[in-house]
Formats: sequence, C-alpha cells, structure tokens
Amino acid sequence: MKISVIGCGYLGAVHAASMAELGHEVTGIDVDPVRIGSLSQGVAPFHEPGFNALLATNAARLSFSTDMAVAQGSRVHFLAVGTPQASNGSVDMAYVNQAVADLLPYLEAGDLVVGKSTVPVGTAERLAALVSPTGATLMWNPEFLREGFAVQDTLAPDRLVYGVSDDEAGTAATALLDEVYATILAKDTPRLIVNFATAELVKVAANSFLATKISFINAMAEIADVTGANVTQLADAIGHDARIGRRFLNAGIGFGGGCLPKDIRGFVARAEELGVGDALSFLKDVDDINMRRRRRVQEILETELGGLAGKRIAVWGLAFKPDSDDIRDSPALDIVESLARAGAHIVASDPEATLPAQKRIDAAGLGESVTLNPDHREAAQGADAIVVATEWDCFSAEDPDTIAALVRNKLVVDGRNCLADDAWKRAGFSYRGMGRS
Ligand code: UGA
Repeated sequence: MKISVIGCGYLGAVHAASMAELGHEVTGIDVDPVRIGSLSQGVAPFHEPGFNALLATNAARLSFSTDMAVAQGSRVHFLAVGTPQASNGSVDMAYVNQAVADLLPYLEAGDLVVGKSTVPVGTAERLAALVSPTGATLMWNPEFLREGFAVQDTLAPDRLVYGVSDDEAGTAATALLDEVYATILAKDTPRLIVNFATAELVKVAANSFLATKISFINAMAEIADVTGANVTQLADAIGHDARIGRRFLNAGIGFGGGCLPKDIRGFVARAEELGVGDALSFLKDVDDINMRRRRRVQEILETELGGLAGKRIAVWGLAFKPDSDDIRDSPALDIVESLARAGAHIVASDPEATLPAQKRIDAAGLGESVTLNPDHREAAQGADAIVVATEWDCFSAEDPDTIAALVRNKLVVDGRNCLADDAWKRAGFSYRGMGRS
C-alpha cells in the first residue's frame, strides 16, 4: 500500500521505515531539509539502535521529501509531527495544525488520515471536521514507542489502539488500518477499538501513570534518605507484588525527555481548560517531586565538598536516558548547567550526546565552565567528584579501582543508582546514591 508519513522526527522517521519493513511503499515528509537530506541518504539523524539497518534494508520502498505534494496518491497518511510544550505548559499545536492544513489539498476521497502525535483530548474531533469535506476519514492511533527501543516497539507493539468515529466511516477506517498493520496483527497483538477521546487519553494516561510511578519511588527515596532505608531494596520488595510490578520503580534524578515531562504538563493544562483541573492536581506533585530530584545531586555535592566554587566535577551522562542521544529536558544536562552556574568546573561525558549537548552549553553561555569529552575516563582525571547522571552500561560496568587512580578526591554520586556500591566503597570511594544511604 502507498503510505505517507508527515513529520520525520523520532516517531515519524521510525514509523516510516517500519511501515516499509511491513512491505508498504512509504514517503516520509518533513519541513526540515537537513533531516530529510540525512534520511534520503539512509543516515539516521539521531541515535537509535537498529534504525540505520532498517533504513538500509528498506531503501527501495522508502523515500523522503520536503514537498507535501508527494502525499497525493497515498491511501493512508500518518500524522507524526511534534507537539512541544508551549510556554504556559499547554501543548503547542502549531505543527499539527499546519501539517493538516498543508495536507488537505492533496487528500482524495477514500484516503485515511491517521493521527499518531500526542495531542490534547478533543483534537481528533476538531481535525475530523476539517478532513471530512475532502471525502477522507480521520482516525487516532497513538504511539507508545520508547526511545532506545523505537524499532522493536513499532514493529512489535504491546497493543494497538484505534480511535474511530462510531459510524460506517469508522468501520472502513478500521479495515484499512488493519490492512496496514496486517503483519503485526497476525502475531495476535491486542487491538482496541475506542472513540476519539479515549484514544487520545490512552496516550497521556499511560505516560502520566509511568511518570507517577517514577515520582512515587523518588518520594520514597526522599524518605529513605532521612531514615536510613534503602530505596532499591524497597522497590525490589514492593515490586514482587504483581499488582505493583518492579518496572519503572528505579529511583534517581528523575524522568526527562521529550515526552513524560511535557505530557503531564499538557494533560494538566487541558484538564484545567475542561474545568476538571482538580482531577489531575496530583500530577503537579509528580512534576514537583521530579524537579526536586535534579537539585538533590547539587545538595549532596555541596555538603560533601563544602561548596562548589573551583571544584572539578566529572559528570557521566548527558542524554535523558541510555541508548539515546536525546537531551530534551534531560535531568543530566540540567544538573551540569546548575553545577556550572554554582561555580564548579564540569567535565561531562556521554557516549552519544556530547555534540547536541555542546550546542546547548554554548547557547547557555557556559562554554568556559563546561568541557565535554566522550571518554568518561578522561573526564574523571583530577576530579573532586564523579556524578553518574545517565545509566549507560559503560558507566555501570566501569572498574572503580581504575577510576580511583585517576581522580583527585574519591567521591561518587550515583544519580541513577546503577553502580555496584560495595565495589566502589571497596575501591575507597565515598558512595552517595539516591535514597540508598
Ligand atoms: C516514554 C514512554 O515510556 C513511552 O511509552 C512513550 O511512547 C514515549 O514516552 C512517548 O510518549 O513518545 P521515553 O520518553 O522514550 O518513552 O522514555 P522512558 O523510557 O519512558 O524514560 C523516561 C524517563 O524516565 C528517562 O529520563 C528515564 O531515565 C526515567 N526513568 C525511567 C526513571 O527515572 N526511572 C525509571 O524507573 C524508569
């Protein structure tokens, strides 16, 4: 089937290549010529395991363009443009609105427009009214992929959610999307058919639940810090209860990235618009707990080092999570910036994210106080403290004795609770975890 995917960021680019992998003829469209240039040459514009290979295998069925006119003739058009956070915390819908306006002239009767972007509830109904005069139909099919597992999550999702209208057009839309996803459905992937509002809410509810789980365990870390309890053991113990589960109960410097933080804020803003802000007031606490985590590392360093001025701090990690070069709302990078502003000299290291981080450091005017070095051992040289801010395997697997010989002062702050604390203590380090005192 001929398919277009509008928006070739993380979501759209991976979706386009994955649809080609399912055997479809796919055109990816984006307004950014640099991104399209890179994808056209088969080069991923971001770090994502398995994505370059997917582009290469499917090159014959995959093309990319900045011209919306190439969408004409596709039967299914996926909308995968970004929905960033606006300055008041709500969702900035400018890219979605523009993409739909640009697509409308090329839609033909019988086409299907499938929304995948994360949007405020009520959006699909509004867009369906714009699309329907063309004879095309709109449905909403939220995406649940995780960065670092994007290819796997797209080709083998936990579930598919179809948000459709309750009429013949909805039935036809379901049949057409079933054709698109035939290979995935053949593997007994659960498929839920719901109305527009439910489909939109499934996405933000899932991300809110995940964010709440992380902030819950981080709140326990705060309690553990003043009581001498160990939050990792606590998470292991409560996680054995299948109703709670162990996943997403890792305490640390909290959640970041392009999704969880902005999705909970956008959800709160939408609930307030709808007059039901009280229902989601707890998400403000979730956000507050999360932002407090970022300050915790600095508090520990100030206490342990007696101030930060003139201190040399090695920060291991810049990306918001491992296996990604994404620094959007990264707790690690926030920590680097606030330590530098407090007078420390930072040598920060990340296997993938030093390039994008350099741009943000320069833009923040912190180039003098922050040096970036992809080699984390070099970064540790002469350090007064090491901070682990992203749990890359190369950091957790590091030999503490090797590092002990490089640093000036043996203090390690494990912002992701990912180090073997006993081994670091045996190597002479003063070890400070998050709620693991
Ligand atoms: C998140 C969701 O997990 C996906 O299901 C969703 O599709 C995606 O957002 C999206 O909306 O597009 P992602 O942003 O890739 O995926 O990252 P996560 O794996 O959810 O991690 C988010 C943050 O939480 C990271 O900073 C991570 O370090 C942190 N985290 C995660 C913790 O602090 N503790 C945990 O136990 C788990």
